Amino acid sequence: MSNATPASKDAAPVEEVANLSVSQVEQNITPWTVEGAVVDGEQVAIDYDKLIAQFGTRKITPELLERFTKLTGHEPHLYLRRNIFFSHRDFEKILDKYEQGKPFYLYTGRGPSRGHMHVGHMMPFIFCKWLQDVFDVPLVIQLTDDEKFLFKKELTIDQVHDYAINTVREIAAVGFQPEKTFIFSNMDYMGGAFYRNVLQIANLITFSQAKSAFGFVGESNIGQVHFPSIQAAPALCSTFPGIFGARRDVPCLIPCGIDQDPYFRITRDVTQRLKHPKPSLLHTRFLPALQGSTSKMSSSIDSSAIFMSDTPAQIKNKINRYAFSGGRTSLEEHRQFGGNPDVDVAYQYLTYFVEDDKEIEDLAAGYRKGEITSGEMKARCIKVIQEFVAGFQAREKEITKEQVAQFTDPNFPRVFASLSKK
Ligand code: TYM
Ligand code: TRP
Repeated sequence: MSNATPASKDAAPVEEVANLSVSQVEQNITPWTVEGAVVDGEQVAIDYDKLIAQFGTRKITPELLERFTKLTGHEPHLYLRRNIFFSHRDFEKILDKYEQGKPFYLYTGRGPSRGHMHVGHMMPFIFCKWLQDVFDVPLVIQLTDDEKFLFKKELTIDQVHDYAINTVREIAAVGFQPEKTFIFSNMDYMGGAFYRNVLQIANLITFSQAKSAFGFVGESNIGQVHFPSIQAAPALCSTFPGIFGARRDVPCLIPCGIDQDPYFRITRDVTQRLKHPKPSLLHTRFLPALQGSTSKMSSSIDSSAIFMSDTPAQIKNKINRYAFSGGRTSLEEHRQFGGNPDVDVAYQYLTYFVEDDKEIEDLAAGYRKGEITSGEMKARCIKVIQEFVAGFQAREKEITKEQVAQFTDPNFPRVFASLSKK
């Protein structure tokens, strides 16, 4: 493989152009950029309520969660209880299907932009595993090696594919069942039914629509402009004849970061014209960067993220060195006036990982009163994340070549009781 950069990659990447078109003071959330607004020269936390209004999604309400519990007999996952998954599109339609005993499936994905995922990438996957166990439904996972090739100038075609294959191992370690889960690299799986759907979707989206949804400009390369139809296609069940046979009526539920919503807004516009149901979505907030809630943990900024490949010592150092503290400048002041858990990154991370609601409440209350110091909060966070990452690494070691082959084999028999009956 040559290291020559294809000419098309000299085109301006969308992240750079998107920034130019958005006023400095507004927050900017796109599939390529996640930045809080700038107020009086300072960057502030991402305003998720504003995003709901701007994107036209709906809040996940206590009533919706009550209905979920009544139907499934399961308590909501801690991501739902703590409003980490905070927004949705048509989730109630999925609950209707479940109530009627009709099938649906889950779809999520990941862009393999480096060899290892970070802790934030795990959230949609952990949540999908839980949803798969609760509803007993198929799950398809798209690895967009093609996307990362087209959007990241520095990556070669071999690199993105290698990263995709390594990602399969990491995803398998989340604990999905091979007989219910299909993981595919776009570069490998494209063709057949998948490509037919990509073409039919591309046929319905004009350049003007893509421009207004994603901010493409004249200098964007043409692969970037076409890519949204490839991320849309897995939302149509007929993309997976190995799972759904000839059916076109099985809807999907897409758990993803809110930054991915623009892809699925245009997907929802075209599915009905292709005689498929509209996909439903559940959106998560971002696990913040170590530096604080103004931006997300991101693969492209090393010091912002804890990677699933980090050692216990690396985790400890990163949190101690970089995690933004909501504590006071001196211990004396902290004891007297207390700290602010709402901006404290160590506390924020704990809310994503600690199951026990009482412990989370006690940590926040103790911090506000100054009884818990910033150092103690970080120590607890370090321990919890070290255990999470170590447990994951141990499971990843156990994943065999055969398991990877099964997850990625489109012809591996995936049998779903719910599909054969109804
Ligand atoms: P990617 O690889 O950038 O991110 C994969 C998923 O992880 C979410 N995510 C985060 N969630 C919480 N906290 C964070 N700090 C954080 N960083 C990333 C993303 O929102 C995303 O859900 N184009 C996609 C791949 C894709 C996809 C999909 C995603 C294809 N089809 C369908 C969701 C649903 C991508 O490159 O994701
Ligand atoms: N486009 C996403 C990214 O760049 C990756 C992705 C592909 C994805 N398919 C998905 C994310 C489905 C969530 C759900 O991050």
